[in-house]
Amino acid sequence: MRGLIAYAFFVYHRIAMSETHPIDALKALEAEAMAAVAAAEDEHALEDVRIRFLGRKDGRISAILRSLPTLSPDERPAVGQEANRVKQVVSAALDERGTALAAPKAAAGEDLTLPGRHPWKGGLHPITQAVDEIWEIFRDLGFTRARGPEADTEWYNFVALNTPLDHPAADEQDTLYLVDSVLLRSHTSPVQMRTMEKHEPPIRIIAPGWVYRRDTYDATHTPAFLQIEGLVVDEGITFIDFKATLAEFARRYWGPDTQVRFRPSFFPFTEPSAEVDVKRFIRHPDGSTEETDWLEIMGAGMVDPAVLDNAGYDSERYTGFAFGMGPGRIAKLKHHVDDLRTFFDNDVRFLRQFSK
Ligand code: DAH
Repeated sequence: MRGLIAYAFFVYHRIAMSETHPIDALKALEAEAMAAVAAAEDEHALEDVRIRFLGRKDGRISAILRSLPTLSPDERPAVGQEANRVKQVVSAALDERGTALAAPKAAAGEDLTLPGRHPWKGGLHPITQAVDEIWEIFRDLGFTRARGPEADTEWYNFVALNTPLDHPAADEQDTLYLVDSVLLRSHTSPVQMRTMEKHEPPIRIIAPGWVYRRDTYDATHTPAFLQIEGLVVDEGITFIDFKATLAEFARRYWGPDTQVRFRPSFFPFTEPSAEVDVKRFIRHPDGSTEETDWLEIMGAGMVDPAVLDNAGYDSERYTGFAFGMGPGRIAKLKHHVDDLRTFFDNDVRFLRQFSK
């Protein structure tokens, strides 16, 4: 405050004591301000000029206006009037120059009314999206969701599923053991047994989850990957239900023109067993169409009666079907990704392409 009074006093002296009449001093200040406005090359420089001349605290024109009360009563009105005029003229010049400096941007096609750019907030991983889409289709067909532990026993992972421990699938080469007979599940099929133990038929479940195998990390294998298990058990479930349900799923997921093929196969826990293939019919945006090769999308079959017996079900009364698929492989086929590993590199430039 004391500094301000001193400055006001100094300004007063400059005006009142100098040989120059205060009105002339104001005119000189006006000329100086106008030259500075014209010389300002960008909006920042212009703002500096505004502060230098019209700033509330230290602006030179503002200071003169503030010092008016110290002038003699006969000088005050004329100097006051002139100071206000200079303030208005300089203020108008500042505004005009501001508009002129902004104009080239608009002329260069920058639409200043456009909304700002928003940083990418992330999105669901493409494999998570595949799990969600597959689950939603089965949910609409009347399935519920089930889960089981990732660390499980030989019994649930193999033996209960009609897979003797000397079967190649049970070979230690493929399975990651923790202690003794406890292992990281090598597939989601043990959830079949854990569900049947807890519930009586009818069973209609989908169980997505992580599975683990002693596999080399390459373009088509990752040692940890997701599987989606499905199980239906009830009275009167036939091969027709099996084929119709999985064909319906395939057409809902891959499109209504998709062809579905059941290829004979073998799994210890199903009889008969099949591998399900789809042939996609793709309509490209340019109007052309394409039929893909046959793509294998899952393993499946009618539940082996021995498995129902192991669950304590009456295998004379109940029948069912089961299936297992890899959403990672499905996402890879759907998005034409060559190398499964790109899904796990976590390079956002790759992953953000799948953001919805
Ligand atoms: N568990 C099998 C695997 O990991 C996949 C599978 C095949 C699951 C047939 C099933 C089935 O339920 O019926 O390779």
